[in-house]
Amino acid sequence: MKVLVVGGGGREHAIVKKIAESSKVDKIYCAPGNAGIGELAELADIKATDIEGQLKFAKEHEIDLTVVAPDDPLVLGMVDAFSEAGLRAFGPNKEAAQMEGSKVFAKELMKKYNIPTAKYEVFTDYENAFGYIKEQNSYPAVIKAEGLALGKGVIIAQNEQEAEDGLKEIMLDKVFGQSGNRVVIEEFLTGPEISVLAFCDGKTVRPMVSAQDHKRAYDQDKGPNTGGMGTFSPSRIYDEKMAEECMNHIFLPTINALRSEGITYKGVLYFGLMSTKDGVKVIEYNARFGDPETQVVLPRLKTDLVDIFESCIDGTLDEMDIKWSDDAAVCVVMASGGYPKKYQTGYEIKGLNEVAGGITVYHAGTKKEDGVFKTNGGRVLGVTALGKDLDDAIKNAYRAVEKITFTDAHYRKDIGIK
Ligand code: AMP
Ligand code: GLY
Repeated sequence: MKVLVVGGGGREHAIVKKIAESSKVDKIYCAPGNAGIGELAELADIKATDIEGQLKFAKEHEIDLTVVAPDDPLVLGMVDAFSEAGLRAFGPNKEAAQMEGSKVFAKELMKKYNIPTAKYEVFTDYENAFGYIKEQNSYPAVIKAEGLALGKGVIIAQNEQEAEDGLKEIMLDKVFGQSGNRVVIEEFLTGPEISVLAFCDGKTVRPMVSAQDHKRAYDQDKGPNTGGMGTFSPSRIYDEKMAEECMNHIFLPTINALRSEGITYKGVLYFGLMSTKDGVKVIEYNARFGDPETQVVLPRLKTDLVDIFESCIDGTLDEMDIKWSDDAAVCVVMASGGYPKKYQTGYEIKGLNEVAGGITVYHAGTKKEDGVFKTNGGRVLGVTALGKDLDDAIKNAYRAVEKITFTDAHYRKDIGIK
């Protein structure tokens, strides 16, 4: 088989690495990819959101299976375009991808089908939205832009001033463009968060092993929100009892709700969960593999990933026996100094060849110049280690991180501890 992976971050590196282990695959392409992915796949310089360009490439190279990894091409309908052209693509179609593309769609679905989530109201008008917040007078207030906003469309306002500033940015200044036409204002929940990614074929939902993300830039969850500074799997709190609660009250009800609405969800559905005192609730859905969750979940997968992708497309996921390793995994993200704000790129990355066996360094933002790997993004590398338990994996991951250096490298020292 020839497989094309659309995207180019650490998540795509982890997907490409798993696909490379499949006995069915002779050739992998990745577009646009990155320097690390380039060691395993042939890269094509096509934007992830360029539906026409990706489709043309897939036709020309007679691709048997395309895996669309990022949110924006899914929400734009890349899978629909491939299907219409008679090509096989893994990922939800445009209608199904609204689970991530529209927070209003997701919230309304949850309300209609009694899926536990934070209480909320939807507003299309700035004055009404701000009036509601003032009237509630309850902080923190949670404000979410309806659409995709590079993971930055959520504001947790600690007081009226922050709420006013945030709402203005989203609804009046339109810092996230059309994503800010509608906002969801919701109840603030507290509790540990867990990410559960699940394979879906429209009828069957098969959760993967659990993971936990660290979204803040600095140790002890301080500093600004980022795309994710590290992850670990399994979550320390997601036990069998919680898994059962989630299956019965969240996972199955969600896939059944979608079916009832006439939507066949095929692909990965990401459940962003919070364990509150009133049980587990959905914070958000994503229509794809999480980043960096994928970098700790897929290394634990023992079953052929291409077989799973095909079963999702064919609607035969119920026949799959999906096996996971008992090992724990930890991924420490090494970022450019200054990320998620201003940072410099182009620094040489040293020590990549010195990390021990059993460690995988996923590239997120790198480029190769004259045979040398250089930094080329905010998040640069995801250093992933397995271990017999989390503490062991943490030790292995940091031992590797210490061998890798680049100017102004920044990473958290507490990944996996919480
Ligand atoms: P989201 O993009 O919806 O996942 O939101 C980003 C982050 O904001 C989440 O991972 C939570 O940490 C936080 N968050 C979102 N919604 C809520 C809520 N209702 N209560 C408390 N925290 C929230
Ligand atoms: N790690 C969070 C996300 O992928 O959205």
